[in-house]
Amino acid sequence: MPPKFRKSSKLIIAIDGPAGSGKSSTAKVLAARLGLPYIDTGAMYRAVTLEAMRRKISFENTSDLVRLASEIEIRFGVMKKDTQKVYVNGKDVTKANRTPELTKNVVYVAREPKIRSEMVKKQRLMGRKEGAVMDGRDIGTVVFPKTPYKFYFDADPKLRARRRYKELLEAGKRVPMSQVLREIEERDRSDRERKQGALRVAKGAMVLDTTGLTIEATIDRILAALKGVL
Ligand code: DC
Repeated sequence: MPPKFRKSSKLIIAIDGPAGSGKSSTAKVLAARLGLPYIDTGAMYRAVTLEAMRRKISFENTSDLVRLASEIEIRFGVMKKDTQKVYVNGKDVTKANRTPELTKNVVYVAREPKIRSEMVKKQRLMGRKEGAVMDGRDIGTVVFPKTPYKFYFDADPKLRARRRYKELLEAGKRVPMSQVLREIEERDRSDRERKQGALRVAKGAMVLDTTGLTIEATIDRILAALKGVL
């Protein structure tokens, strides 16, 4: 039996790391275990990208993109099993938010500092309401740098590519592994090199290499680090 914890309101647990490092699978289970909302900040950058594609806003048109980012209403549904719906301006975009084409385009949105500031504002509002397990790239460095509960996940790029390959297959896309690996490495580079909100280990974060770890084992390490708080 997993240990039971009381509802930890206002607690912010920040989890950062590269694509495929196991953040979201772990964060979802952890949030359910702790009775906290799960906030997937990657889904928010995806939502802005999706809406820009739908409205045919060019990724060169920074001012329209920034306006969109400030006006867009992004909401997360309650977690059912291990899925959480994402709503944009009231519409369910859960599936549309994860297409490979969109995944390629998010970089144009995520690199723009003014869009990042708009997302950070929304993320802080959401987190302050009820606390959260929040995952992304800049949660411990920018969004909630003062939370004492910061984690940085990493994993072997080949394993991360395998996880992504499986995800794509499940979505009906057969992409060569070499291409998946190349895309993961490109995404790592753009995540690490952008001017604002670059992916790096936050000060005071506990670094977890999830390469050989199951989700349960990863959660056990986090809970051990949170002992005394919960
Ligand atoms: O975690 P993900 O693959 O769903 O993230 C989608 C994109 O958004 C990814 O290219 C990195 C970016 N992102 C970001 O820049 N900052 C965050 N806090 C979360 C995601």
